[in-house]
Amino acid sequence: MADPIYIIGSSNTDMVIKSERLPTPGETILGGTFLMNAGGKGANQAVAAARLGGNVTFITRVGNDLFGQQSLQQFKKENIHTQFISIDKNHPSGIALINVDAKGENCITVASGANGQIFPETLNGFFNELKSPAVVLIQLEIPLVTVEYIIEECAKRNISAILNPAPANRIQESSLKKLFAITPNETEAQGLTGVRIHNDDSAGEAAAVLHKKGMQRVIITLGKRGAYWSDGKNSGFHTSPSVTAVDTTAAGDCFNGALVVALAEGKSLPESVAFACQAASISVTRMGAQASMPFRKELKLS
Ligand code: RIB
Repeated sequence: MADPIYIIGSSNTDMVIKSERLPTPGETILGGTFLMNAGGKGANQAVAAARLGGNVTFITRVGNDLFGQQSLQQFKKENIHTQFISIDKNHPSGIALINVDAKGENCITVASGANGQIFPETLNGFFNELKSPAVVLIQLEIPLVTVEYIIEECAKRNISAILNPAPANRIQESSLKKLFAITPNETEAQGLTGVRIHNDDSAGEAAAVLHKKGMQRVIITLGKRGAYWSDGKNSGFHTSPSVTAVDTTAAGDCFNGALVVALAEGKSLPESVAFACQAASISVTRMGAQASMPFRKELKLS
């Protein structure tokens, strides 16, 4: 049986406008189409993992408002366990404003709201129940102090913690060493290492810097090109299937959700990266964040 998956992170409602191109500062662009969609990096990853067959518990914090209620209902519909989700009476649910252009590229502004109030004491006794074996997945849309606390608590229990360091932020290196794996994209990897990633060799150089800092497994996502992985001894590159992208929002979230499903099933690192690349390549062919996440039956690799 696969290990249980715990995803701790943000939940947002995404207000998306798709237009021909992204606006520049001070500019108004007419002619876009609007979509309101469930989002947030943590929630997107939880939905991806659940649709791909994971036994997923999601821990977040929502406001006492309509958006928060809608998110909770949605998680339940997706068969995600929600018992550790808390409701904040003083802060609204998270909102993201997203512009998507004709090529599927995006820019995002987030008002974190209740996500910014996820602290160790709001995790609703989650760590009293967490036991090995399990896989824990976190991102950086919640306070850093909480992310560092989660990594410490996982290390104490010998539980594999995987950090998707998005959006880029500074996290203490002593915490990073305790991770099972880190999954930056090219920009985040450059921020962590100073290495500009433009091909396989430079991805390898960035991974070597991260290993030198004590990180055990490094997976660098390279957008439509695929992903590079390294466990310090072996490494490889997996090419993503070629597709026509309509919206790249949450492709990284899909990758991470899929990756933890495969790891929780006991797949090797390269097998898990191949599985995640395939799932992410499907997600970019559809609009929206959670709405774009594929189901297991849609994947060729099982
Ligand atoms: O990774 C994509 C997500 O980032 C969006 O769903 C948005 O809510 C922001 O959190």
